[in-house]
Amino acid sequence: MFELLPDKDCGLCPRLKDFRAQNRATYPDKYNAPVPSFGRKDARFLIVGLAPGLKGANFSGRPFTGDYAGDLLYATLLKFGFARGVYQARSDDGLELIDARITNAVKCVPPQNKPEGAEITKCLPFLTQEIASMPRLRVILSLGLVSHNAVLRSTRHKISAFKFVHGASHSLSDRLTLFDSYHCSRYNTNTGRLTTEMFENVFESIRVQLRSIT
Ligand code: URA
Repeated sequence: MFELLPDKDCGLCPRLKDFRAQNRATYPDKYNAPVPSFGRKDARFLIVGLAPGLKGANFSGRPFTGDYAGDLLYATLLKFGFARGVYQARSDDGLELIDARITNAVKCVPPQNKPEGAEITKCLPFLTQEIASMPRLRVILSLGLVSHNAVLRSTRHKISAFKFVHGASHSLSDRLTLFDSYHCSRYNTNTGRLTTEMFENVFESIRVQLRSIT
């Protein structure tokens, strides 16, 4: 049985292990290990990102924390009542998630923010365990296609049966709905592929969905 998080010196992906060793040598005072999920396991809402950013989550040890993408994600969580406190891009900023949890499809930072297919596959059992460990889970939000496909594989659904479309929702079972959003990355927001309004609309739909169920 897989644990929820890989060992801090996990060697399942040789390329990511080498990158971690390089980063530990270059930035010895930073976190530089698989990044654990953030939030309570009894949450009804799970957000699945791609992978930790080098100088963000990989430095801070908390998903999206210190990453450019975290600015929009945490602001939106606060706006829709899924977080309380003040996001200060540090894992000790005291921010609390409410009925929400955040994880990544790949737990270790990949070079150039791009995990390889084999790395996504190696990390899949951790996501599978993560999802299985949330007894009240009702909504998963996938940020981007890699996350969408990883969630479908983790929950044993056919990828071809659920097309990734920004703003779409997919019923995975009578209890679980998958929502899709473009990733809130700097690239997507700078190019206008994802606007704040588009992102907030997805959270509004999730709010409505969660309000209708217990
Ligand atoms: N930081 C994360 O933790 N995950 C992402 O997908 C992007 C930035």
